[in-house]
Amino acid sequence: MDKLLIRGGRQLRGEVRISGAKNAALPELCACLLTAQPVTLANVPRLQDVSTMLKLIRNMGVSAEWGEDGSVRVNAGGLSSPEAPYELVKTMRASVLALGPLLARFGEATVSLPGGCAIGSRPVDQHIKGLQAMGAEIVVEHGYMLAKLAMVNGTRRSRLQGAHITTDMVTVTGTENFLMAAALAQGETILENAAQEPEIIDLAEMLIQMGAKIEGHGSSCIHIQGVEQLQGCSHQVVADRIEAGTFLCAVAATGGDVVLQHGRADHLGAVIEKLRDAGAIISTVTEGIRVQSPGPAHQYLKAQSFRTTEYPGFPTDMQAQFMVLNAIAQGTSRVTETIFENRFMHVNELVRLGAHIQIDGKVAVIEGVEQLSAATVMATDLRASASLVIAGLVAEGDTVVERIYHLDRGYDQMETKLQGLGADIERLK
Ligand code: EPZ
Repeated sequence: MDKLLIRGGRQLRGEVRISGAKNAALPELCACLLTAQPVTLANVPRLQDVSTMLKLIRNMGVSAEWGEDGSVRVNAGGLSSPEAPYELVKTMRASVLALGPLLARFGEATVSLPGGCAIGSRPVDQHIKGLQAMGAEIVVEHGYMLAKLAMVNGTRRSRLQGAHITTDMVTVTGTENFLMAAALAQGETILENAAQEPEIIDLAEMLIQMGAKIEGHGSSCIHIQGVEQLQGCSHQVVADRIEAGTFLCAVAATGGDVVLQHGRADHLGAVIEKLRDAGAIISTVTEGIRVQSPGPAHQYLKAQSFRTTEYPGFPTDMQAQFMVLNAIAQGTSRVTETIFENRFMHVNELVRLGAHIQIDGKVAVIEGVEQLSAATVMATDLRASASLVIAGLVAEGDTVVERIYHLDRGYDQMETKLQGLGADIERLK
């Protein structure tokens, strides 16, 4: 299992290219299932979850090839087996995003329940409820969701039907499943309590390029008028706001001056506000976002309390990374995780690096210390592993981060990008 060896104490300087968003590329690869025509996705990040999703759709009889320019060409004309098997789904819960498109295009789907993951139980009950409202019959058997169009008066429906869906909570992939299913459904679908993330907007814009009729994406109420067929398209995956936010926190923590090429400051409002309150200098530049921090966080930055909430609030996917900043900034802060029930697993590892953090239910209380000290630590989930890398960049001595396959799931060449900014970091096989 690969590890990262990080020698702390270096400031970060230079330019880094932000890759396409993992959480946009994954639903958009599933959106390709909605048409028999070829689709080209540009700016697809090269990471493990994308490889898993390509394996999943190829397994269905879909062709998907990388171009040399970082694009992926998908042709679902040959889609023959609408299945998402457990051995793939258990490694990536985003596989549930195949459910909506397969039902809409093929009229049936057999998708393994994702099971829980490190950060929480992560049920898909809302996905099931919404698709049932659209005329799907879904039974759960032997760990699989067996979905098909419902029978009406003895005959099986030929299409999903538009519905008015209000989810019990905001769900990102739930909203995405409904968007894709509704695009080909008969009639109008209204999604209330819809997720508003930039990745939702990017998916909707891709679907519109394919001929879908969608309004209100980016707000909490989305209207979709179903169409008979969707065409192929060429779509550029939006830049990854969480990768950009991770680099912003890394520079704020170590000190330095970095330009994030293609970074979208308009997608990181809540995070940038907290970084500015802490004392980092963040500016929008032609290439993207520039972040400057005078030096090691403890001398210059003030810890910031925050609560994670749905977009446009502070993203849960940035909680672990910002916590490292608080761990070495001046003062005491409170971090409240409201989205997932078990997303503090990085805390014990940060404590091993010398952080002073106490957990009380959904709240972590962090007392800033002058200096972290290197240790061997273990990654437990994707964003926790990113926080341990940032901690290693500032800890005194040589930190080893184990199990970085978690990092490889969601970051495109993280250590190479950090090396390019002057970090002393290498991958140990
Ligand atoms: C997406 O997960 C992201 N993944 C996650 O990013 C992100 O943390 C999360 O949204 C929240 O922003 C992708 O987009 C591939 P949810 P998702 O459905 O859609 C509960 C990362 O690090 N819920 O918005 O699975 C759920 O348990 C990953 O890149 C139900 O109870 O999250 C959670 O408490 C981690 N029933 C809350 O809603 C459901 O049917 C929000 O979950 C669906 C969700």
